[in-house]
Formats: sequence, structure tokens, C-alpha cells
Amino acid sequence: MANEYRGSPKQQLEKLFKASIRVTVPDLPDVEPLIAACNPRFGDYQCNNAMSLWTTIKGKGTEFKGPQPVGQALKNNLPTSEMVESLSIAGPGFVNVVLSKQWIAKSIHKMLTDGVETWAPKLSVKRAIVDFSSPNIAKEMHVGHLRSTIIGDTLARMLEFSNVEVLRRNHVGDWGTQFGMLIEFLFEKFPDWENANDQAIGDLEVFYKASKQRFDSDSAFKERAQQAVVSLQGGDEKYRKAWKQICEISRKGFEKVYKRLGVHLEEKGESFYNPFIPMVLGLLNEKGLVEESEGARVIFIEGKKIPLIVVKRDGGFNYASTDLTALWYRLNEEKAEWIIYVTDVGQQEHFDMVFTAAKRAGWLPTEDSKYPKTNHVGFGLVLGEDGKRFRTRSTEVVKLVDLLDEAKIRCRDALIERGRGTDWTKEELEQTAEAVGYGAVKYADLKNNRLTNYTFNFDQMLNDKGNTAVYLLYAHARICSIIRKSGKDMEELKKVGKIELIEDAERVLGLHLLQFAEIVEEACIKLLPNVLCEYLYGLSEDFTGFYSTCQVVGSAEETSRLLLCEATAVVMRKCFHLLGITPVYKI
Ligand code: ARG
Repeated sequence: MANEYRGSPKQQLEKLFKASIRVTVPDLPDVEPLIAACNPRFGDYQCNNAMSLWTTIKGKGTEFKGPQPVGQALKNNLPTSEMVESLSIAGPGFVNVVLSKQWIAKSIHKMLTDGVETWAPKLSVKRAIVDFSSPNIAKEMHVGHLRSTIIGDTLARMLEFSNVEVLRRNHVGDWGTQFGMLIEFLFEKFPDWENANDQAIGDLEVFYKASKQRFDSDSAFKERAQQAVVSLQGGDEKYRKAWKQICEISRKGFEKVYKRLGVHLEEKGESFYNPFIPMVLGLLNEKGLVEESEGARVIFIEGKKIPLIVVKRDGGFNYASTDLTALWYRLNEEKAEWIIYVTDVGQQEHFDMVFTAAKRAGWLPTEDSKYPKTNHVGFGLVLGEDGKRFRTRSTEVVKLVDLLDEAKIRCRDALIERGRGTDWTKEELEQTAEAVGYGAVKYADLKNNRLTNYTFNFDQMLNDKGNTAVYLLYAHARICSIIRKSGKDMEELKKVGKIELIEDAERVLGLHLLQFAEIVEEACIKLLPNVLCEYLYGLSEDFTGFYSTCQVVGSAEETSRLLLCEATAVVMRKCFHLLGITPVYKI
């Protein structure tokens, strides 16, 4: 069968055990096979169905005498397959599987000829929305937004790799009462604002702070600002023009950060949904969800003391009304089956309430396992080395661009120290410093479980030993250099050569490579980029294990081992790609 070497071992084993379960317990047609990687002492994978099957059939006239005979039957009924080397039973019916070396080798070779895309997981979702980054206009884009940008981009990349169409949404905060204040301040400070260029208006954060101060201290200004909101929301052209100009300046600032990070986003800000809010609230009202409470319109959520406010006491809409409307739009207009929101954990409660309201309205199924579905992907704080919220010495907030600059400069210095200042072109030096520097910032963020706070530390993230992007990028470059030094044409080797996994270390590396697809799938389903980081780090360790025991260039097994090097480099590069990191080929 042409597909025989494709996909993950786990998936292939699921197919085999599904067939075996059907024969073993024909009366239970819907049992899903439970396959997991196992302790290497027992095998590569195990099937864990025997115990639960036994619990289901026991006492119901079955011929089996316990879980172990059930396991035995699962083993005996397994269709023969070239992927299986041997099977054994352990404990109460676990079926351990040892994969065949030949099959592992062939599968890797097939990936090399057909491309790593053939190892992409297959998800049942066709279209997803990842709502990430989403900074607020005129306010600072802080490290929290950096985390959202990095994590969201990786999730989008993993889904895209899995053939899901992804709408990468930047839900910028471009609407709300603060714009009255900003517009009024613009008129006051720059009477010729229509012709003022961005430089004149300058730093929007400074602008924001100054206008806020004015707002808080001058009641006449405050009144004008409140009136400005009304004019803006009423569609007055002058006010809309001023609003657009402020948004445009912010946008240019955000774009700079995205360009450096290589992140692509499509903006649909809060303002986009504003015209739809009355209609959507109308729908919720018809369902009887919206109630009056202390002058506001609210939705009560079971188990929560405070309701979700959807119309404020002054009649205005808010963050929640916008998010409910955006959710409605995404489900009905954009037909998204999976909507993923990436923000700090502090917004968990907000999203819980929005999702519950949507379930009550019948927009989403009540069971979390069914589609369409929504997930809030929360993340912890970025801490400074003092254990407090990350700040720089000079300013209260950290400018993201400065942060990326510093990472790059430090990398460039390290490369110059290694003598690359003289033997590389300036361009090579710049590109490598950028790839490693930005990669280090991203990886330091992604390698932790996103829910934990993480400490921002340049020395740690730029260390060339340990679980860092620098170490991994260098490991990849080293593999490329082994291949280069062999002088062999890899395309030719792929055609005529054969992979043979002779030494233990070769088999360990081969199996690790083959698990790539199931790891990406797990990272996608659990929405945990750190799962992929762990895989990548493990891969480079297994490569080190292989390289320190197996001679490559000049050995009798040179061809096979070079192909294994190539496969490792290909899979590492795909991991880098999914993590938004640019690989380097020389160090
Ligand atoms: N602008 C918000 C913030 O900076 C994040 C928006 C997240 N997305 C959403 N649909 N609410 O906190």
C-alpha cells in the first residue's frame, strides 16, 4: 500500500488495533484503540485497551477470564504488518509493541523523498481562527503582547502545517471611550493635524499619557472629550478622520515589531464589529439571555457571582459586547470551526463567560469535544530577574523593538568573538545574528509551559549550551556541516542509498524522527508549543547520542548515516519553521 510508511506509528498502530478490537469483541463496535508511546524497556508503544474492555464485558457471559486473556486476544488478533517486529503482554493485559527497524528506516527514507509535508498530521478541522497579538491602539505594546504574538504565531503555523486554513486575526483595541480624549488632544496640540506627519505626533504612548493627564485634570477638556466620543461613534467625518490617523500611527509601530518577528496578521479590530453589536445583542435578547441589572444590561452565567455586562449603564458597549459579536461573526460569517484566543491568563474569566453565554445561546455545542469550539490559550507573566513584572531600568515598560535589538547585538558580539567578524561577509553576520537573536527570544518563551510565568534573561536564553535556541540552531548547523564536508550529493544518495539502523543509537534517533507527526498533532490539540520544543530538544540529544557512537564520514555505513543526518536536519528545520525560528546553516 502506498500509504504504508506515512503518518505516525501511533496512528498506524491505532488502525491495526482497531481491527484487532473488532475481532476480539465483535459486540462492541465503537471502542477506540488506546495507543501510547511506552517505557523503552518494554517496547516502543503499548495498547492499553484490555483493562477497560474487561471492565465492560465482565459478568456479561464473556469467555474471557480476566484482562490478561483479553490482552492476549488483542495480540493474537492483530493483523500482521511489516511495521511490527514483536509483541508481548505485560501486567493486566497491556500489549507492548516493538517496531521493526526496517520499517522505521523505510518510513524515514520515504519522508526524505516525498518531503516532510507528508508527515503533517491530519486534523478534522478545516478552518480555524487564531486571535492573537491584539495590542491596543495608542497604548504600549508590552511584553504580554509579545508573548501572545509568539505563541499565537506558532499555533497558527502548526495548524497551517496540518492543512487547516487559518485566519490570523489581530483583534486590536481600536475602539472605545479613550479615543474621545485622544482626538480632542490631537486637535488641541496639532491644530494642523490633517497635515501633520507621524513624526510630529511622535511617540503615541507619550501622547496617550499626556492626553490622559489633561483629561483627568481639566473638566472642560473632559467634557469635550466625552462629546468627541459621541461625534466619533455618530460617524462625524472629521472625528473619523482623526481616529483613523491615530490608528495608522499605531499600526506602523506594530508593523515594525511584526516584520522583525516574521509574523503575519490580518487586522480586524474591535471597531469592525461595532456596527453588528445591536443586532447580535438582539439575538441574545430574543433567547432571553439578556437581563437588567443595576441599570446595565447583563448576561448571568451559572456559577459566577458577577454577570457579564453587555451594555453599560451609560448605554455604551464594551469589551464583552464586542467579543460576543466577534464570536458570532466568526461562527456565522467566517464559518470558523475552531476559534483560539491567545491572551494572558488574567482574561480567562472573561473568555469563560463569553463562551458560556455562546453555549447558552446555542451558538456552540455544550460538549467541549464537539465542533465548532473555542479555546482560550492563556499564558503567564513575563518576569524580570528581580521576580517582578518585567521592566527595563530606564522606562516603565519594555519597548519590544529595543528588546529584539539587544538580543541581536549580543548574538553578533558572540559571533565576532568566535572570529566570524573576519571570515564572514557583513550580511552573513547580520543575518545569523538576527536569526539566532530573535530565535532565542521566541524559544525562551515557547519552551516553557505557557501557563507558567517566565523570567526574561538574556544570558540564559543566549547560552549556547542547554535547552536554548542557540544550542539547537548550532546543532542544526553542525549537522549541515557534516553533510557538506562529506562532499556527497544528497539528492543522489536519496535515490540510490538505503537507511539501515544497526546501532542502538541509530534506532533511537530513527524512532524519534518518526514520532514527529504525532508530536505536532499533540501540540496542536493541546495548544501547547512546549510539547514541540521538548521534542526538538530531545531530537538534538538523540542526534548527539548517535553522532558520538557512530562514525559517519568515512565509515562503511556512510550512506545510511548521511541519510539519517539529512533526515534529522529536515525535521529540525521543520520544527524551527513551526516555532517561527529561522534556521542557520553555518556557525
Ligand atoms: N486588546 C486586548 C488586550 O490588549 C486583547 C484582545 C484579545 N482578543 C479578544 N478577542 N478579546 O488585552
